[in-house]
Amino acid sequence: MSRSGVGASVAIRGRLLWFDGDPTLDGAAALRFVEDGVVVVEGGMITAVGEARDLLGRLRPNLPLADHRPHLVMPGFIDPHLHMPQTQVIGSYGAELMEWLAKYTFPEESRYGDPAVADAASRFLLSELLRSGTTTAAVYCTSHPQSVDSFFAAAERLGLRMIAGKVMMDRNAPAALLDTAERGYSETKALIERWHGRGRLSYAITPRFAPTSSEQQLEAARALASDHPGLHIQTHLSENAAEIAYVREAFPWSKDYTEVYEHYDLVRPKALFGHCIHLSDRERAALAEAGASAIFCPTSNLFLGSGLFDRAGLMEAGAQIGIASDIGGGTSYSMLRTAAEGYKVLALLGQPLDALAAFHMLTAGNAAALGLDDRIGRLAPGYEADLTVLDSRATPAQSWRMERVETLAEELFVLMTMGDDRATVATYAAGRRLYEKGGRSLPGKQEMPVSAPTRGPGEGGEAQ
Ligand code: GUN
Ligand code: ZN
Repeated sequence: MSRSGVGASVAIRGRLLWFDGDPTLDGAAALRFVEDGVVVVEGGMITAVGEARDLLGRLRPNLPLADHRPHLVMPGFIDPHLHMPQTQVIGSYGAELMEWLAKYTFPEESRYGDPAVADAASRFLLSELLRSGTTTAAVYCTSHPQSVDSFFAAAERLGLRMIAGKVMMDRNAPAALLDTAERGYSETKALIERWHGRGRLSYAITPRFAPTSSEQQLEAARALASDHPGLHIQTHLSENAAEIAYVREAFPWSKDYTEVYEHYDLVRPKALFGHCIHLSDRERAALAEAGASAIFCPTSNLFLGSGLFDRAGLMEAGAQIGIASDIGGGTSYSMLRTAAEGYKVLALLGQPLDALAAFHMLTAGNAAALGLDDRIGRLAPGYEADLTVLDSRATPAQSWRMERVETLAEELFVLMTMGDDRATVATYAAGRRLYEKGGRSLPGKQEMPVSAPTRGPGEGGEAQ
């Protein structure tokens, strides 16, 4: 694409779907659907979107055409919270958050001082995201700076828009994972200089969460945030009862968990707070007022027994909301599965999630939660050409169910309820097709297929 010089040119035909807003809040016109449409991409950027009958005759000669009819063509999914080093702890049995971290996650993350481990996991993660139709994510690496190098290098090779950071943590974890306030600062500084703004990559200042950072380290995070006012910040907030009790004990001067982060000036636009389950009215209002984002992680919240995210309460407070996989507390790479579990969490609260609202969240809504809604999340001229192509009839069960579907909203609800990575027909980033189901090549295209995932650290299977 023009910004990074890695984009492709192509015309993509299919059933186009995107959102200019949340149709349940902003009106039905926010739903954009073209039954037989074309997205024209030049140098990785969308230059035209419209009816096939209007655009096909006007395409420049030699522009490759990818015909994906009858499948849905949508903006690539956006996943605003996940952990690169947790792809091999997914489904670890029987623990709530603090025990899960101590027993499974911290020992696993300790392996990531080895660059070969981080390289292999980064490639694996990106290939799974693309297989699931996800083109942008906000990613926690480990406290080892080289884990960020591994992840960003892999994302850069694929020309993906990715956000990531080195976890800062200087207490309450094994020595192999601890930095210090000073090292957390200097290593973060060096990574920002090396990676932020390179191609499509952005750095996120990443204090893991208050329980694993001393006050000196949170002070260092404040300094980093103040030196870099445009950067993302990502951390965890109010996920679990034992976590909240620990924060109360460790920061006795703070009236609640959110105030710890406010005290260090970490609550601001483009600050992403994972979980936000057990918040008071004051905390919800504080997030909203600061323009920060609350990130709903339903598969993780159910798996770790953390609690139910009060979407309506946060919306009423005016907070920006995103929805994320939280791999590997979360159990699926698929944003369709994530939306399906989100629906179930919200059903338990009497807040059933409308399908149009859900698909808005997975695309333009998550782009807004990341402060990137001017460049990704919609099919519109001037946007980056990150797209996913989805088959609503991907399995026999879906196909059978679709026989009784009459409206687009029903189709989308069935797609999110029954769908997973098998529904992804193809995934494009900056106009390049990086994933295609079955691995077939379309003729005459610039190819960059993602190969089969690696099995373990240091073994082949590279996503080129
Ligand atoms: N809180 C602090 N670290 C983590 C993590 O890795 N996963 C989850 N779910 N919560 C956290
Ligand atoms: Zn997390």
